[in-house]
Amino acid sequence: MKLLEVRSLTKSFGKHVAVNDLSFSIEKGHCVALLGANGAGKTTTLEMLSGLQQPTNGSVSFGDVHKGDYREYIGYLPQHPVFFPWMNGMEYLVFMGELSGLSKTKASTRANELLERLGIADAGKRKVGGYSGGMKQRLGIAQALIHEPKLLMLDEPVSALDPVGRREILELMKLLKETTTILFSTHILHDAEEVCDDVIMIHKGKLAITGSVSELRRKHQEDVIIISAEANLGAWARSIEDWNTVSKVKSTHNTVEIYVKNAAEARRQLLAEIAERQLPITSFTVAQTSLEDLFMEVVGK
Ligand SMILES: Nc1ncnc2c1ncn2[C@@H]1O[C@H](COP(=O)(O)OP(=O)(O)OP(=O)(O)O)[C@@H](O)[C@H]1O
Ligand SMILES: [Mg+2]
Repeated sequence: MKLLEVRSLTKSFGKHVAVNDLSFSIEKGHCVALLGANGAGKTTTLEMLSGLQQPTNGSVSFGDVHKGDYREYIGYLPQHPVFFPWMNGMEYLVFMGELSGLSKTKASTRANELLERLGIADAGKRKVGGYSGGMKQRLGIAQALIHEPKLLMLDEPVSALDPVGRREILELMKLLKETTTILFSTHILHDAEEVCDDVIMIHKGKLAITGSVSELRRKHQEDVIIISAEANLGAWARSIEDWNTVSKVKSTHNTVEIYVKNAAEARRQLLAEIAERQLPITSFTVAQTSLEDLFMEVVGK
């Protein structure tokens, strides 16, 4: 069932079109990554969906709400959230809960539950000004969840964190996605592949690729044989380009990446060729391309 449907969403700033005719939908219960390089239009898209920016064109339907205000159903963590450093975690959450229409009692109950659930129960009484980046991010997620939204939107929730903080938030998102539909933006495909079901890839404001992670893997993943050598294999790499088992060859310095149609057959042929020509190879690896390669292809266009 579709929770959110976006049609021809467009945002122009003067002559610059930051989001250009973007259409996609989000299934209820799915975790969806909005992927794109810096400046691709992720924040602008999320801000339009959260009601912080008015689209220049296009429409958004949320569940049964086709034209009206659906903001009460969404929770949003901005890319650069602003906290009040003098408040403690509990005060901040209650304040945000009241802003979203909860009574003080209800907001306090939810705040306690969320501090516990997000693993920062001890931080409830500490001033936010003294939090680490990871703790602030958890508090930001708690704030977005305070009114039990149907859709949680997170703008680059892990980009500013160190590897430990990043891992913690990704693990937390895996737990949250069991109960909430999530749309989060990132420029790191690996994070998207790890936690989400679907991917919406945008490039220069336009939709580049969308689909489920498994479908994209099935469609775009290729077998690749990577050969490294003590010498430059560029000339040899060019000589195998027209083999019928080979679809593409990329060579850089002493490494050659050979994209192949049939890995088993190509491996046999290549090993025979290496032995016959006595190529000074140091490694021979059979692998598969990742979605990262697909992303780089889109971004490199
Ligand atoms: N208020 C604004 N006025 C003018 N141009 C803007 C404004 N906001 C965004 N832009 C431009 O729109 C484009 C998309 O910006 P946006 O912040 O949505 O990208 P992003 O994908 O979130 O990038 P990042 O990964 O760096 O956060 C950029 O070229 C940006 O300079
Ligand atoms: Mg952004």
